[in-house]
Amino acid sequence: SNFTVKRIGCIGAGYVGGPTMSMIAKYCPHIDVYIFDLNQTRINAWNSDNLPIYEPGLDEIVQERRGKNLFFTTDYTEAVIKSDVVFLSVNTPTKHYGLGKGRQADLKFIELCARQIRDSVKTGHKIIVEKSTVPIKTAMAVSRILKTSSDSQATFDILSNPEFLAEGTAVKDLENPDRVLIGGENPAAIKILADVYANWVKREQIIQTNLWSSELSKLVANCFLAQRISSINAVSAICEATGANVNEVAHAVGMDKRIGSRFLQASVGFGGSCFQKDILNLTYLAEHYHLKEVADYFYGVISMNDWQKQRFAQKVVHKLFNTVSSKKLSVLGFAFKKDTGDTRESSSIFICSKLVEERAYLNIYDPKVSELQIMDDIMRVMNDAYDGDFSAHLDTTPESEMVRRCVKVIKDPYECVKDTHAVLIMTEWDEFKTYDWKKMYDSMKKPAFLFDGRNILDHSKLEEIGFDVYSIGVAE
Ligand code: NAD
Ligand code: UGA
Repeated sequence: SNFTVKRIGCIGAGYVGGPTMSMIAKYCPHIDVYIFDLNQTRINAWNSDNLPIYEPGLDEIVQERRGKNLFFTTDYTEAVIKSDVVFLSVNTPTKHYGLGKGRQADLKFIELCARQIRDSVKTGHKIIVEKSTVPIKTAMAVSRILKTSSDSQATFDILSNPEFLAEGTAVKDLENPDRVLIGGENPAAIKILADVYANWVKREQIIQTNLWSSELSKLVANCFLAQRISSINAVSAICEATGANVNEVAHAVGMDKRIGSRFLQASVGFGGSCFQKDILNLTYLAEHYHLKEVADYFYGVISMNDWQKQRFAQKVVHKLFNTVSSKKLSVLGFAFKKDTGDTRESSSIFICSKLVEERAYLNIYDPKVSELQIMDDIMRVMNDAYDGDFSAHLDTTPESEMVRRCVKVIKDPYECVKDTHAVLIMTEWDEFKTYDWKKMYDSMKKPAFLFDGRNILDHSKLEEIGFDVYSIGVAE
C-alpha cells in the first residue's frame, strides 16, 4: 500500500527512548520524531541544556536536531495519535507485589500504553513497535488489546524491535549496532521499519525473525552477557585462593576466538537496570513452562553475582582487622558502570549498605551521581523498599537515620579520601587512574588500604607508595 513514515512517536523518554529516537532523528531528517512521556520534569529536562541522562555524544545530537525534527513532549496527540509508527519504550521493572513478586516482569506500563492507543486512535493504520524488553508473548497481549475497540476503524501491525545498547556507550552502539532485530508477522510492516534503520545501518545487519524469537533473543542476549561476568567472577575466587591471576586467565582464555575477549572483566559484580531483571524474567518464564532445570541453570548467574558482592564487602571488613565499626572508608564510584549517572542495581548500593550495617562511616564520591540519588539508593535498600515506594515515612526510619548519620557524599575525590582507612574502587571511571595516589596516601590513616573492585589501577605502583592493595581475582 502507500503507507509512508512521516512521523515516528515514542512512548517513554528514558535511557532507551531518548537516545534511540535521537539517533533516528539524526539519520532520518525526512521523518519527524516525537517522544512522549507522562513525567513532565523529565520532558522539561530533555528540552533544557541539562538532559535527564548522561551519555557521551548525546548532547550534541539532541542540540542539533531538537526543534527541527526531534521533539520531546507531553502532548499525546502530537506524539502518538498523529504518528505512523509508535515505539513503546516504557519501563518493564521486576514486579514487586503479588504473584511473581521479585521475579516476573511488570507489564502494567506496556498494557496501559496499548489500552490508551486503542482508546484514542480511531482511524488509519499504525505500526506499534515493542522497544521495551518484555517476556515472550507480550506482543500477543498488546495485539489482543488493540483489537478490542468497538467503535474504531484503526488497524495495527505489532513488531518486536528490542534494543541492545549499553549505557555509557549508547550513542556508539546506536550508530554502529552489531545487529538490528525486527520480529513480526507481516513482512510489509517489517520492511517499513527496516527501511528506517537502513538510513544508517547496513542491510545485512538488519535481521528478521518471528515475534517470539525476537522477544526471546533479547532476554537470551542479556543472560549470556551476564553469564560471562558471573563465570569470570567465579574464576576470580579460585584465583584468589590459588595464586592464579584473573586478568591473565581472562586474557589467555579470551584469545580463543570461540570464546572472545570481551565481557570478561572480573568485578565487584554486575549492576544496571536490566541484567538481573531480565534473568529473573527468563527464569520465571522457564518455570511457567515447567522447565525448572532451565530456570535453576540461569538463576545461578544471579546467585554468583550476589555472592561476589557479598564477598567483596566481607573482604573489606576482614582485611581491616575484622572490624570497620567507627572507621571511615572512602568509596570511589557509585554508578553501576563508568560514563553513566545511572545507579540502578549498582553493586555500590549493596556494598555500601553492608558496610553501614557494620557501623562504618562512608565518604562517597562519584563524578556523575547526585547526593540525593546516593542517599536515596542506600536508604531504599536498607529499608527493603522498592523504587516507586520511596516516601516520607521511610525518611524517618531508624535505618534512614543511620544512613544520614554514617554516609557523606563528597564532591572532591581528594577530600573524600582524606583521613579514611581504606579506599574502595567501585566503578571503573577513567579519572580514577589519573589521580595523584601518593597525595591520597599521604592524607589517609595508616595502614592505608585500597580495594580495587574493578582492577583498573596500577597495583605495584600503589604498593610502592605504601598502600595495602587488594584486588579482584589476584592472590595476596
Ligand atoms: P526508563 O525508566 O529510563 O524510562 C521509561 C520511561 O517511560 C520513564 O520516563 C517513564 O516516565 C515513562 N513511562 C512509563 N509509563 C508511561 C506511560 N504510560 N506513558 C508515557 N510514559 C510512560 O527505562 P529505560 O531504561 O529507558 O528502559 C525502557 C525499556 O528498555 C525497559 O524495558 C528496559 O528493559 C529496556 N532496555 C533498557 C536498556 C538500558 O540500557 N537502560 C537497554 C536495552 C533495553
Ligand atoms: C547491558 C547490555 O550490555 C546491553 O546490550 C543491553 O541492551 C542492556 O544491558 C539492557 O538490556 O539494558 P548495560 O547494563 O547498560 O547494558 O551495561 P553493560 O556494559 O552490559 O554492564 C552491565 C554491568 O556489568 C555493569 O555493572 C558492568 O560494570 C558489569 N561488567 C560488564 C563487568 O563486571 N564485567 C564486564 O566484563 C562487563
